[in-house]
Amino acid sequence: MSSLLRNFEDVNLDSKEPLEEPQRQYYFMAKCREWVKRKEKELNRPLTFSVVTFGCQMNAKDSEKLAGILEKIGYVPVEGEEADFVVYNTCTVRENANTRVYGRLGHLNNLKRKNPNMMIALCGCMMQEDAVVDKIRKSYRFVDMIFGTHNIFKLAELIDTRLSSRTMIIDIWKDTKLIVEDLPSERKYRFKAGVNIMYGCNNFCSYCIVPYVRGRERSRNPEDIVKEVEELVADGVVEIMLLGQNVNSYGKNLEEPISFAALLARLEEIEGLKRIRFMTSHPKDLSDELIEVMKNSKKICRHLHLPVQSGSTEVLKKMNRNYTKESYLNLAEKIRTAMPDISLTTDIIVGFPGETEEDFLETLEVVEKVRYDSAYTFLYSKRSGTPAAVMENQVEEAVAKERFDRLLKTVQGIAGEMTGRMEGTEEEILVEEINSQDTSLLTGRLSNNSLVHFKGPEDLIGKLVKVKLSQCKGFYYFGELAEG
Ligand code: 5AD
Ligand code: SF4
Repeated sequence: MSSLLRNFEDVNLDSKEPLEEPQRQYYFMAKCREWVKRKEKELNRPLTFSVVTFGCQMNAKDSEKLAGILEKIGYVPVEGEEADFVVYNTCTVRENANTRVYGRLGHLNNLKRKNPNMMIALCGCMMQEDAVVDKIRKSYRFVDMIFGTHNIFKLAELIDTRLSSRTMIIDIWKDTKLIVEDLPSERKYRFKAGVNIMYGCNNFCSYCIVPYVRGRERSRNPEDIVKEVEELVADGVVEIMLLGQNVNSYGKNLEEPISFAALLARLEEIEGLKRIRFMTSHPKDLSDELIEVMKNSKKICRHLHLPVQSGSTEVLKKMNRNYTKESYLNLAEKIRTAMPDISLTTDIIVGFPGETEEDFLETLEVVEKVRYDSAYTFLYSKRSGTPAAVMENQVEEAVAKERFDRLLKTVQGIAGEMTGRMEGTEEEILVEEINSQDTSLLTGRLSNNSLVHFKGPEDLIGKLVKVKLSQCKGFYYFGELAEG
């Protein structure tokens, strides 16, 4: 935790709120905390909160920041949605993400009827869309506050505003250049943590809504990142996941530009840090320098998530991806030659406008050539406001669905074979948790991101241990703790 935060208790609530961040938010956290204390006395019980996350790792990280602020204010975390403060941190990357949120809001309304102290906040990517905000304003009037992706750091201030107002608080920023450092964050695991290295995206892939809801690319200063990782390591973290929509373009727009590979090399130096992961890489920006740094690294995990989206150069062009089928295959080959044990994973979209059977067969061909350890496959979803939404020749749902099923079969067959290639070997894993389905087992993760279930004492959680990968079960292993 930063030195600034240790002084949080010293905030003087008799003075006016500071203008600069993060001091301004400490002021509001302290002010809300006073309110929570009074409320607790009145109700004779603690006030509880729950943050529900939809979508990607970026959102999961934002949720940890929201939880960090709520805990500072004095709310106590609970599972489920029966809480005094419920936040939905939403996703909008595909239409079904939005549908899920609307589906669950009715349930929240019922809970609020039973608990008049309940506050409901909606935030995240979906809230950056005007149509969504209009709909909530009109049809979901029980919601207390809506904010977006750029101002989650303001949660305490928004709560304070809500407490002195009777109406729904709506605070959505279209974009920002602001990066607020030194705010609290509540980690889900004590031994591993996500670390934002950049926000936003400049790529405007033609199907994707992310650049519209997450804004332009902004990189954090390398010094701030190194400091955060050092503090995490001092607090028991051994594995970090560097987060960004396109980590390969990290640092390009900083006053003193620095490459992603150079940032990795700096993080490698941090004593006590054992594993470094990152996500997501855009194939068009993946440099030889990065491959070299990864190859020589003892800490960077043997896993690269390299979304291909389609195997057809024609489709890739319409997607605005800036690489071809051939250049992608060459890149994958180069990575495999440098690091034969690496695991490659990907994202694929099926049914992009204009995709023909021939285009789709090229996607299958790429999957067969690259041999991914796993692939996230998606049916194309039309996002209004993106260029692809108004393209001609939208693919019929039944055709897309049939292709999707064929793709899934191919992907799963290859993934099973790829995962199995380490059967019988002894490997290091980071032990993460008690297996949720069979509590007599622990679950750990290999450097290449595969999961291993094995018998062992609970106090191994958070430690790196060697296991023998006795049996591959398709997408995971059963292992045995190695001697010594
Ligand atoms: N439809 C389907 N999948 C999408 N993705 C992004 N936008 C869409 C869309 N409109 C997928 C991409 C991306 C992943 C996070 O989500 O494959 O890599
Ligand atoms: Fe979306 Fe493309 Fe940016 Fe990824 S790189 S977030 S797919 S626009």
